[in-house]
Order: sequence, then C-alpha cells, then structure tokens
Amino acid sequence: MFVHERCRPEPVIKKCLFPVAGYGTRFLPATKAMPKEMLPVLTKPLVQYGVEEAVEAGLTEIGFVTGRGKRAIEDHFDLSYELEHQIRGTGKEKLLTGIRDLIGSCTFSYTRQVNMRGLGHAILSGRTLVGDEPFGVVLADDLCFGNERGVLAQMAGIFERFGCSIVAIQEVPESETHKYGVIAGQGISDTIFRVNDMVEKPAPGEAPSNLAIIGRYIFTPDIFEILEGTAPGKNDEIQITDALLQQARHGAVMAYKFAGRRFDCGSVEGFVEATNHCFRQQAGTG
Ligand code: UTP
Repeated sequence: MFVHERCRPEPVIKKCLFPVAGYGTRFLPATKAMPKEMLPVLTKPLVQYGVEEAVEAGLTEIGFVTGRGKRAIEDHFDLSYELEHQIRGTGKEKLLTGIRDLIGSCTFSYTRQVNMRGLGHAILSGRTLVGDEPFGVVLADDLCFGNERGVLAQMAGIFERFGCSIVAIQEVPESETHKYGVIAGQGISDTIFRVNDMVEKPAPGEAPSNLAIIGRYIFTPDIFEILEGTAPGKNDEIQITDALLQQARHGAVMAYKFAGRRFDCGSVEGFVEATNHCFRQQAGTG
C-alpha cells in the first residue's frame, strides 16, 4: 500500500499516556518503596521531565497507568498544602514554580494495571483514559532532550503529515540491539522510515537493522483493538511491538529518527550519564 501524505492535518493530539506500572528491578533497592519514575535527575523526577515534554507538544491531558506502590506520582502532580504554607514568602518558593505551573496547565487521570503483563498490556489498560482518539505514549525512564523542539513535539509534526502511528527510533550499536524493539523500514527521507518489520529484543545477529525503538510513541486508537487480540510474545508479555507490526502490515506505521539525545534512565549507567549531562548543562559547561 502506498501512503499519501495528508493534505489536511489530523485533529491535534491532546492525550498522553504514561505507563508507570513496572517494577524497576534494575534500581533495587531504591525502587523497593519508591517508583522508578520518581528518581530525580538533579532536582526533578524523571516523570516530570516526561510530562513537560508532553505539554510542550500540546498534550495536556495526562493519563497514568500505575500499579501498586506508585502513589508518590499522584502526590507529585498535586498541591502539597503544608509544604506550600511552610515555604510561602521564603526564597525556596521559586523551587516549586515549575511543578505548580505544570499542575495548572494539565489534567491528570489515573488507572491501575493490576497484573504487570508487559508494555502492550499497560497501554491497553489505559484505554479508558484515552477513548477513541490518537494519543502519545511516554516512557519516562527514557529521558529525551530534543535539539530545537522536544521529541514528542517533533513526532506530533510527523503525525500531522501521515496520520498513522509513529515510533521514535535511534541508531544503536549492533551489540545493543537485543535490548530493544528493532525495525526494518523503507526510507521516506533521511529521518522517516515506513516500517515493514519489527522484532522485539532480537537475538544476536538477528536484528533487521540497528534502528531501535525508544520510549516515545504516537498511536492511532485502533491499536487498542489490535492489542486486545495480541497474544503474549517475548518473555510471555503482551508486546507493543507485536501490535505495531500488525498495524504496519494492515495499514502503516512510521519510524522517526528524532533530533536530540536520549538517556536510558532505566539503567544505572544511563541514569548517571543523564545526571552528568544535566549537571554540565546547568553549570553552563555542557
Ligand atoms: P521496563 O521494562 O523498562 O520497566 O518497561 P521495568 O519493568 O519497570 O524495569 P526493570 O527492567 O524491572 O528495571 C518500560 C516501561 O513500561 C512500563 C514501565 O513502568 C516502564 O515505564 N511497564 C512495563 C508497565 O507500565 N507495565 C508493565 O507491565 C511493564
């Protein structure tokens, strides 16, 4: 099938899902009683960076797919009256300006993924929060900094052109492909590929390319129907890549090589790199 670029933009995307139900086992014991998404890079938790990126892209209806032990995320996106009262009029008040502004510019909804059956299942659990419209998905443990615009804002622009699901990709060394969903695609431009194959965590030597999917997506709502019929795949989890491959085969999915940097803050190494990067930026030496 040939995909035409849209001459008329799709309705603007307003909703963004944050699947945050995972256990974060790579960060134990820190994540025993605290959500991984609340780990701070400098003074800001990962999830706040993610919500700021969504808001910059115009996605202000934020939905969280949470799990047990994740209540700190709800508290973070709410007012803390005692604290506000304590620091009112002091020099510390400005430290809350960013999060206050964010709370004022978004709505937040929550649902729980009762059994952790994988990212695909987490996204399906968010269906009641999304309804029948296109939506973004941010995995907050992938911390992304776009060059001029945030990564999700860049992707929203691609969605307006093509009107189909979009995945963000980056080139990774061959030795790393086994950690990701990896695509094969037909180049439409230097940065856009029409996906024709996708493999979740390929075994060494079996990756179809070195183009790895990272934690930013835009989905058309038919993904929910597809996920409902998707059987557990790799690691006995419902894999979003399996559902995306169905969309790619029966319609179209675009992969977008974003302009910017991404840090895998789900791993200790990536988290330390992100912290160093942000510290250098803040100190003006990055
Ligand atoms: P990860 O596999 O990176 O997160 O899932 P994890 O399972 O929490 O981390 P480790 O491997 O044990 O250290 C990617 C994203 O998908 C969410 C996670 O919260 C994370 O944001 N997720 C994953 C869910 O919400 N539900 C799931 O069943 C699985």
